[in-house]
Amino acid sequence: MIQIKNLKKKFENQNILNNFTLNIEKNKTTVILGESGCGKTVLLKHLTGFYHSDAGEIIIDGLKLEKTNIKVLNEIRKKLTLVFQHPALFDWLTVYENVALPLHEHTQMKEESVKKKVNEKLDVVGLLGSENKLPSQISLGMQKRVSIARALILNPDYIFFDEPTTGLDPIIAKNIISIIKKLRSQVGTTSVIVSHDISMVYKVADDIAVMKNGRIIFTGELDIFQKSKNSYLQNFQQR
Ligand SMILES: Nc1ncnc2c1ncn2[C@@H]1O[C@H](COP(=O)(O)OP(=O)(O)OP(=O)(O)O)[C@@H](O)[C@H]1O
Ligand SMILES: [Mg+2]
Repeated sequence: MIQIKNLKKKFENQNILNNFTLNIEKNKTTVILGESGCGKTVLLKHLTGFYHSDAGEIIIDGLKLEKTNIKVLNEIRKKLTLVFQHPALFDWLTVYENVALPLHEHTQMKEESVKKKVNEKLDVVGLLGSENKLPSQISLGMQKRVSIARALILNPDYIFFDEPTTGLDPIIAKNIISIIKKLRSQVGTTSVIVSHDISMVYKVADDIAVMKNGRIIFTGELDIFQKSKNSYLQNFQQR
């Protein structure tokens, strides 16, 4: 479980996270909805240790993320991974090398075992057979799937998706959604998705959280979300 308690972050006197509090449960898919610019990416960067908060706490499976020692921090970092909005692959590395990179960097694994793992993850995203291609030789949707395979390679407990379907055509978006569903049902990875796209809620969410003015203004399951009389939520639902 991820517990975020009263997280605060200011940039140039602007409160981006303002007492942000949320519990994210394991083995569920949580969608955090919020308008563009409300601080979703900033939140994910805190959860993955890229940014430090001004105040508040993040506790991941009982381990405190902030102001911790390097040993615990490394322990936590192994548990989670972030899939950026843009695939962010290395252009000069093949699909195989991109996906294998975290194993080459962080483990002493023999190449034979690396290969087995890479194939396993490429299979999850439906890309077996594309190992030797360069990113420039595959479509954007395929690049996105490679970035998901790379995120999965160290077997994280939690995977964070930043706008996983924004800007993709509907067929590719559908494909990404089916991969996210597969992660929950077959791989056992807990997904946290931040998006301004309400359709994500209907397609994959077990739990929904809505962010506004730097904090969470709603949490609950789909039926509670749909029944809400809150005009801001109703506005979102009508998009
Ligand atoms: N490193 C930074 N320095 C200063 N301001 C920043 C920094 N990172 C983010 N911000 C500001 O924080 C606010 C929230 O940004 P963020 O990227 O988290 O929004 P978002 O909800 O992810 O938006 P979108 O849906 O468009 O991706 C913005 O006003 C942004 O300019
Ligand atoms: Mg963003």
